[in-house]
Amino acid sequence: MIVMNGKEVSDSIKQEIALEVEKIISEGGKRPKLIAILVGEDGASKTYVGNKERSCAQVGFDSQVLRLPAETLQEELLEKIYEFNNDDSVDGFIVQLPLPKHIDEQTIIEAIDPAKDVDGFHPTNVGKMVIGLDTFVSATPKGIMELLKYYKIDTCGKHCVVIGRSNIVGRPLSNLLSMKGTPGDCTVTLCHSRTKDLKAECLRADIVVAALGIAEFVTADMVKEGAVVIDVGITRLEDSSSSKGYRIAGDVKYDEVAPKCSYITPVPGGVGPMTIVSLMKNTLKAGKQRK
Ligand code: GUN
Repeated sequence: MIVMNGKEVSDSIKQEIALEVEKIISEGGKRPKLIAILVGEDGASKTYVGNKERSCAQVGFDSQVLRLPAETLQEELLEKIYEFNNDDSVDGFIVQLPLPKHIDEQTIIEAIDPAKDVDGFHPTNVGKMVIGLDTFVSATPKGIMELLKYYKIDTCGKHCVVIGRSNIVGRPLSNLLSMKGTPGDCTVTLCHSRTKDLKAECLRADIVVAALGIAEFVTADMVKEGAVVIDVGITRLEDSSSSKGYRIAGDVKYDEVAPKCSYITPVPGGVGPMTIVSLMKNTLKAGKQRK
């Protein structure tokens, strides 16, 4: 069994990005600039945005986090988005999800200029991705594809079961895995909460992607011997034995599933770092396209 080390892979990609940024600067260009908008006090979102800010510094990007109170009105958030759409110094920006309940996420996503939508959530970019055109592919699916490529996982003709149909992960990833190419050419089954016999579907899979957001949901009896298992989940579970009072768990019961796998991603240190480095890649691409 091989543990897919997303931290190590993402660090090496960050070094490549940093070199490219230095080259841009030495040729008289400008540093790519990413803005993250964080509305409210969601603990996990604060952690993710902090990690994105730190990664920007590591690769030599300019970055800024705009922190807005949870009571921010939708109109006020839209105003900020229009500001960044029209600010020439900004190459890309993201609005961290989830948003407070009184704000309609889709309205916000659709207000972002697709040329600065480095999350790849705007319908224009989603549509381009689905038909295989060059665009910003959302960070988590892009990071997973990159990890499969790095470890030279043979995906051609393989049966892949994706659990979870979110717009951020499950749906775009199913599309990417089914596309012509390497990695790609998979036969994909997209499973969700209404799937009749999820265990039977998973047992037929050469590759299982767990992206449903339920801690330790995938157990050893659901996984075929020799399968590749990709764990997208990140949940804080109470743990009095830890000094922090919690531990981070994925959607896969790692200790019992790992021995059955040919490859598996750990949590933390698997998909998470690949997501962030993919956002960095999209921001670099946005900067180059706007030059
Ligand atoms: N919330 C969870 N994942 C993401 C992401 O990739 N981008 C944004 N903007 N919000 C998220």
